[in-house]
Amino acid sequence: MKDPVRIAITGAAGQISYSLAFRIASGDMLGPDQPVILQLLEITPAMEALNGVVMELNDCAFPLVQDIVATDDPNVAFKDADFALLVGARPRGPGMERKDLLEANAAIFSVQGKAINDNASRDIRVLVVGNPANTNALIASCNAPDLDSGQFTAMMRLDHNRAKSQLAQKTGKHVTDVENMIVWGNHSATQYPDLSHCTVDGKAAFDLVERDWYENDFIPTVQQRGAAIIKARGASSAASAASAAIDHMRDWALGSDGIVSMGIPSDGSYGVEPGIMYSYPVKCQGGKYEIVQGLEVDEFSRGRMQATEQELREERAAVEHLLG
Ligand code: NAD
Ligand code: LMR
Repeated sequence: MKDPVRIAITGAAGQISYSLAFRIASGDMLGPDQPVILQLLEITPAMEALNGVVMELNDCAFPLVQDIVATDDPNVAFKDADFALLVGARPRGPGMERKDLLEANAAIFSVQGKAINDNASRDIRVLVVGNPANTNALIASCNAPDLDSGQFTAMMRLDHNRAKSQLAQKTGKHVTDVENMIVWGNHSATQYPDLSHCTVDGKAAFDLVERDWYENDFIPTVQQRGAAIIKARGASSAASAASAAIDHMRDWALGSDGIVSMGIPSDGSYGVEPGIMYSYPVKCQGGKYEIVQGLEVDEFSRGRMQATEQELREERAAVEHLLG
């Protein structure tokens, strides 16, 4: 039996965590042979609700769960944590953009970045889900100077999965037939889901769909999918967000099957300014991710990639005071 790993989840009494915690506990993230200790963080007024979640986790009698810690103290939640999923943050409502949450949520991530820096395993891998995810991840990483900024990532996997699903439906194929999907940039309405390198069942996506559908249907549908879910459900995506978080962490820890999109610190690749959390095409192997280099970028793509980069620079400027 492997030694248990410690997994911190913030916002653990919220919507996303109500799916996420149970799927992690059942082994969906790190496999059926990896015992886990769940370290659940909430704000003080939500501790009673969190207690209810813990009761339900216990009632599942999950074989992999070795212990559950429920706390309102970030220093306790992140103690020796090997993985952290930072979900706890306010969601947007109808008519809002995700960056409207910057003011409400940014402070959470400076506090938690410090607590991770002071308490977590030196090898911790962090995924930020709470919106605006990319800039919150930047804030957390800047407040954890003893860790490598590459240990902090932002969730773009939901966008990546949405893009695969839209293309599979359009072409009448299955999502598993779609390869080399890329979503560049920010988890926002400026994100760029790029079909330039994408294949479906081995055929170039651009040979299967019309340019007009790509530019005027596919791209806006993926960009606006979060808002469409809020309109339909009356609440933001939860189970699909949890599923994407599991995909992101599983691939990072255990390896990806081809290209996936991850929000990571930009290093200048593809001409993107360093110092923002930008979504790149990556491949994961041996517990690490690496940017896929050398992909051709045409003029249309360059314009889209720069627009989403510009938005991330503006978000960074708005939280400069929290970047340590
Ligand atoms: P929710 O309101 O149901 O749950 C959020 C929980 O976080 C609440 O229980 C709240 O008490 C808790 N919380 C607030 N501040 C906290 C803090 N400082 N420490 C610990 N917990 C704290 O919201 P949700 O639907 O679970 O969504 C959570 C976040 O995830 C939102 O910001 C939402 O916009 C975002 N989200 C991101 C993606 C993505 O793709 N990146 C997808 C879906 C949702
Ligand atoms: C999503 O993409 O579903 C989430 O970021 C929630 C939102 O506000 O759209």
